[in-house]
Amino acid sequence: MTTVLVLNGPNLGRLGSREPDVYGSQDLDALRRVLVADAAENATVEVRQTDDEGELIHWLHEAVDTSRPVILNPAAFTHYSYGLRDAAALVTKAGLALIEVHISNPHARETFRHTSVISSVATGVIAGFGFDSYRLALKAVLGFN
Ligand code: DQA
Repeated sequence: MTTVLVLNGPNLGRLGSREPDVYGSQDLDALRRVLVADAAENATVEVRQTDDEGELIHWLHEAVDTSRPVILNPAAFTHYSYGLRDAAALVTKAGLALIEVHISNPHARETFRHTSVISSVATGVIAGFGFDSYRLALKAVLGFN
C-alpha cells in the first residue's frame, strides 16, 4: 500500500490556536484524522510537522529513498528556502508526486507571500481551501475516481 507523506513546515504545529481567522480552529490531529479517513484502505497517510528546515529537507530525501509521494505545506519556507526547493526537486525528478499545499491563499495576502520558490518544482499547487487543500491533494496523489 502507498504511504503518502504529509509534511508541514514551521508554525503549523500551532494550528488551532494560530491566527484562526486565517488558518481555522482545527489542529494537526484533526487534519490527520480527516486524511486517514479519506485515504481509507487505499493508502497510509503519515502527517508530520517540524519547525526545522533541515529536518524537512531530510524528510524529502526519505521520500526519494522510500519512493513515497509527498503533500508539502512548506509554510514560511515556501517563500525563501532554496534548500527546500532543491530537495523538493529531487522528489519530482525521481518521478514521485509532490503537491504544494497552503491552507490560506498566499496570493491574497502580503506581497512576500506571493513568491513560492517551491511551485516551479512541484507537481502541482493547491491553495486557499483550508484543510480541503490537503484533501484535494490526497485525491490528486491517489488518482481521482
Ligand atoms: C501557509 C501560508 C504561508 O505564507 C505561511 O507562512 C504559513 C502557512 C498556508 O498554509 O496558508 O505558515 O503555508
